[in-house]
Amino acid sequence: LVQDAAADFARATTPAQLEDAKARYLGKTGRITEQLKALGSLPADEKKTRGAAINVLKHQVEAALNARRAELAQLQLEAQLQAEALDVTLPGRRRGNGALHPVSRAMERIEQIFGSMGFDVADGPEIETDWYSFTALNNPENHPARSMQDTFYVDLKDAEGRWLNLRPHTSPMQIRYAQAHAARHAGAATMPDVRVIAPGRTYRVDSDATHSPMFHQVEGLWIGADVSFRDLKALYLDFVQAFFETTALQLRFRPSYFPFTEPSAEIDIMFESGPLQGRWLEVSGAGQVHPQVVRNMGLDPERYIGFAFGSGIDRLAMLRYGIDDLRVFFDGDVRFLGQFA
Ligand code: PHE
Repeated sequence: LVQDAAADFARATTPAQLEDAKARYLGKTGRITEQLKALGSLPADEKKTRGAAINVLKHQVEAALNARRAELAQLQLEAQLQAEALDVTLPGRRRGNGALHPVSRAMERIEQIFGSMGFDVADGPEIETDWYSFTALNNPENHPARSMQDTFYVDLKDAEGRWLNLRPHTSPMQIRYAQAHAARHAGAATMPDVRVIAPGRTYRVDSDATHSPMFHQVEGLWIGADVSFRDLKALYLDFVQAFFETTALQLRFRPSYFPFTEPSAEIDIMFESGPLQGRWLEVSGAGQVHPQVVRNMGLDPERYIGFAFGSGIDRLAMLRYGIDDLRVFFDGDVRFLGQFA
């Protein structure tokens, strides 16, 4: 009987089969159980010896069963190990770390540099009203900047019934910021200077190697009782020297025109060494804020004067990283972008 059981158990290859086999010996109608039941009809002395003998059989069957159980468990474990095997000698697959976009890095540098010079950093909406993008900035009604060839319009109108636009420059933010500043200090005898930069995305209908329909500018504004072009030149020189990490750099103003500044200038820089040595490079528009614009900020142009500038951040980043095609910034090719990690 014990041999039968051992053979039966050995044939079982799954735990379920093994349980079935077990039932044939130890179950309700199993062979051992039947023998135990049969004890009842035996005389007392025989019952004792026979009972003891059956118990020995029973223990042997149970031992065989447990041995097979352990074996099956071991086999199952081995199969599982094999199925889930890892080749720990394979080279690891590196997970990319991600990196800041070069334009974001340039923007952070600009904020940090002007921040260290006491400038606040402001933000504003990318979808603007006609008043903030143009009227407040002294842009005449028929100015070409207002045309559909230059500005993206949104299919929605503002409270005055004028089409909203994707801001074509960061200048609306100087108005918004100065208005809030003026309102905060309204009625006070003195007002702290307005000193702010406002970086952000800007949009124009334009696309080639040096123009992208979406680009980045940083607006700068400094208004006070006695702020002049001198301050602008000193400030901007400090900025570009810090940004490009060199003092071997010259700055010049070229006369220009913007409706919101008078006089107006383009700011050029020239590196005295390096790959861009000796070439004048335009980096910013600038000028003394027009009295009408100061008035539109909610300030008295008889008391307050100052300057503004608007610089191309992408352009600054291109110069800093030696890139000659603006479009690579916005193609989203991680092989290019990963170099700035
Ligand atoms: N808003 C101008 C532009 O986008 C730049 C500028 C800003 C010029 C502030 C003067 C003063 O071209």
